[in-house]
This record gives sequence, structure tokens and C-alpha cells, in this order.
Amino acid sequence: MNTPTVHPQWSSRLAFVLAATGSAVGLGNIWKFPYVVGENGGGAFVLVYLACIFLMGIPILMAESMLGRLGRRSPVATMQHLVTEQKAFKGWALIGWNGVLASALVLSFYAVIGGWSLAYVVHALSGDFTLDPASTEPAIAVIGGIFSDLLANPLELLLWHSLFMLIVIGIVGRGVRQGLERSITWLMPMLFILLLVLVGYAMTTGEFMRGVTFLFRPNFADLSGQAMLAALGHAAFTLSIGIGVMMAYGSYLPDSVNIPRTVISIALLDVVVALLAGLAIFPIVFAEGLQVGEGPGLIFVTLPLAFAQMGDWVAGLNVSLMVASLFFLLLAIAAITSAISMLEPVVEWLEEQKGLSRLSGTLLGGGVIWFVGIATLLSFNLWDKFYPLAALGIERTFFQLFDFLVSNLMMPLGGLAIVLFAGWVIPRATLEQQLPVSQTAFNLLYLLLRWITPAGVALVFFYQLIR
Ligand code: PHE
Ligand code: NA
Repeated sequence: MNTPTVHPQWSSRLAFVLAATGSAVGLGNIWKFPYVVGENGGGAFVLVYLACIFLMGIPILMAESMLGRLGRRSPVATMQHLVTEQKAFKGWALIGWNGVLASALVLSFYAVIGGWSLAYVVHALSGDFTLDPASTEPAIAVIGGIFSDLLANPLELLLWHSLFMLIVIGIVGRGVRQGLERSITWLMPMLFILLLVLVGYAMTTGEFMRGVTFLFRPNFADLSGQAMLAALGHAAFTLSIGIGVMMAYGSYLPDSVNIPRTVISIALLDVVVALLAGLAIFPIVFAEGLQVGEGPGLIFVTLPLAFAQMGDWVAGLNVSLMVASLFFLLLAIAAITSAISMLEPVVEWLEEQKGLSRLSGTLLGGGVIWFVGIATLLSFNLWDKFYPLAALGIERTFFQLFDFLVSNLMMPLGGLAIVLFAGWVIPRATLEQQLPVSQTAFNLLYLLLRWITPAGVALVFFYQLIR
């Protein structure tokens, strides 16, 4: 058994659950899930996404947090340590490097969207989503205008992006994470309640069943190879797996914690939050005659419309203002707890391998990431037609490139390497001890780690080539 060398351990299972849940539940569930479902045609995509969560996501999440606990170091050092300990091929250490690079890249664009949610807190608080009944302008025009004005203003976006990064840097640099993680205990239930309120609203739009059908009735005819890969990529993104984030958190896990049980509950919660967001959003999309394939702006246009309609639900109370402000505040906090987890592997790497202090590591890492984020920010205005890889026939903005690179390549391939390493390099006896489940369940899990999960990931990539 490994003795804890570098790290202290978390006091309890709860501390890990809170941090890992804080990482998993975020913009991915509420902002990204609905728009990727919309872009990829609905039901069939959702089904593939769910299959990816269960057959690939959960095994990777188990393997990744287990490797973290076995190594008890930062992701880079954990992989180097395990490679030496198992006398394995040195190339496995790439898992750690891929993680540092990918978590930095993902934060660069995540912070821009986190900035949008901060901007929306202020819009909501200033009553911008409370519509004037005397106005003749349709609600959709007013609310759509707020979003397009925001996107069209690079300086304003820069302000919100910078504010978001400052908050994350402040928290990670001062190491006050633990305090924040406790906020997950009330954040999650409140988010849950607000999503239920929104689903309740969606039921009143008259298009609820159309939304349900869109989400859950699979039409495999229009499931492209691209969509399959997007489903796998989103499953990885939403569970924060494949890039060392969960490895970093797993490194603090006490040996007594039951990893399989813990990660399954985190994954289930994550799925439920995403499905509720989808159930809230699509009926509104259909009722308002909006496009399902609207893209990254989807929730920022649909949800304020829902809030605006709530104006007179309770006499004398500005329900619109209250619900909208609270919702975007919760969304911003959920984004912050995820962003913190992205900065963690980067800072740990700078501390351990480059000898920087926590504070300077955070400032340096955060500063570089902030700067790279500007390319994403400009992808929504000045550079919205600028395709850096156009010469290769790839028509994607910086934002789309970063997102594709991280979510669809680095995360799933990192996850693939992680399960392969866990299944083929770590001895079976260690796995049995680390992943305490019944004998039958273990045999299944072992089969997943060694064969099914890797084959699943490979299949998605292969399918890409043929469809
Ligand atoms: N899982 C987070 C979400 O769904 C995003 C994330 C990706 C967090 C990668 C950490 C690492 O919002
Ligand atoms: Na998520």
C-alpha cells in the first residue's frame, strides 16, 4: 500500500464528494448539454450520450480517481510515480501532461462562458428580464437583443471574463477551496429546485411533450459520426474526466472511501441535472419558435424568456427578478466550482515541477489561461468568421477548435489511456482492493476497464471515419 507522501487527505468521504460534484456539475450540464443536444438532433444523441456515461464515463471516473489515490501526488507526478512503481512503459506518463495542457485549455474557454453567466446575474438584478407589459416589442426581441449586444461587445466580454478568472485565481491562490466546497451542500439542492421550477414552467408552454419527444425519441437515421463523437466528448466533459482533474481530487481520498459507490452517485447526479435542464429548455424553444440548433447562446435566450413570463406568478412580488437573479447566480457559482478544479492540476504542476509557490503558480497559470481565453472571447464577435485552420479545410473558430480539441479529443483519449493503464498495468489484486464491490460486479468492472470501455472509445473514433 502507498503511504501518503506529499498530500494530506480529506477528512471524509463527504469532502471528496463535494469537490468532485462541484467539478462535475457546472456549465456543462446547463449551458452545454442542451445546445449540443440541439445541434446533434435530439433523442439518438441523448441515448448515445447516456450509453457513453455508463459504459465509458463511469469506469474512467473510477479508474482516474483510483490512480490519483494510488499516487497521492499531482497528476503529472502521480503518473510518473505509478509508471516507475509498476516498471511500465514511460509513455503512460503522457496522461499527466495531457491533463495539465487540457485543463488549462478548457478553462480558457470555460471562463468566457462563466463570464456570460456573471453578466446575466447583473442583467437579472437590474430587472432586464422583467418585461414592461406596456411595451409592444415582443419579449423574444428584447431578450435576444440583450444576448446579441453582450456578444457583440468584446470589451464588456473581457470585463466579465477577467472578473471570472480573478474570482477563480483568488480562490485557488488563497487555498480557500474547502470553504467553497461546503457551499455545494446548499448549491446543489437549490439548483435542483430552480430547475424543477423551470421544468414546471416548461409544462405550461403547451409544447412540453414536444420537448420530451425531442429529448428522448431516438432517430438513428440522422446520427452522424460527428454526433457520436460529440456525445462521447460531452460525456467526458460533463464528468470532468480524462484530464487529471479527478486524479488530482482522488489524490486526497482516504483509503477507506468506497470509490465505485461514490463515483456512481456523482455521475447519476450529473446526468439528472443535465436532463432537467434539457426538459426545461426544449419546450420553451418550441413554444417560442426558436431554433434547436441555436448554439452556445441557447440557454441565455430561452431561460430569460421563461423568467420574464413568471413576472406575475405571485402578486406584489417581482418573481421574474428574483428567480432569474438566483438562477444565474447559482449557475455562476456552479461554473466557479468547476473552474477551480480545472486550475488545480495546472497549479499543482507549477508548484511541484517548477518549484513555484501556490500563489505565484496560480497567478502565472491563471494569467496565461486568461490571456488564451481572449481568443475564445473574440470568436463571438471580431473573429467570428476567422477560422485558424481554414487551410486544412476546418471551418471552426478558436472557441470551436479549443472545445473540439479538449472535449472530443484530449478528454476521451486521456480517458482511454487511463482505463487501459488501470486495467492492464495496475495489478488485479490492487484493483480488487481499491475498488471494493462484490465478486460478480468486480468481474464486470474488470471486463469494462480492460475491454469494453476501451473498445467503446475506439469504436466511436472508428465510426467517425466511416460515417
Ligand atoms: N464537468 C464540468 C461541467 O460539466 C466541466 C469540466 C470539464 C470540469 C473539465 C473540469 C474539467 O461543467
Ligand atoms: Na457536468
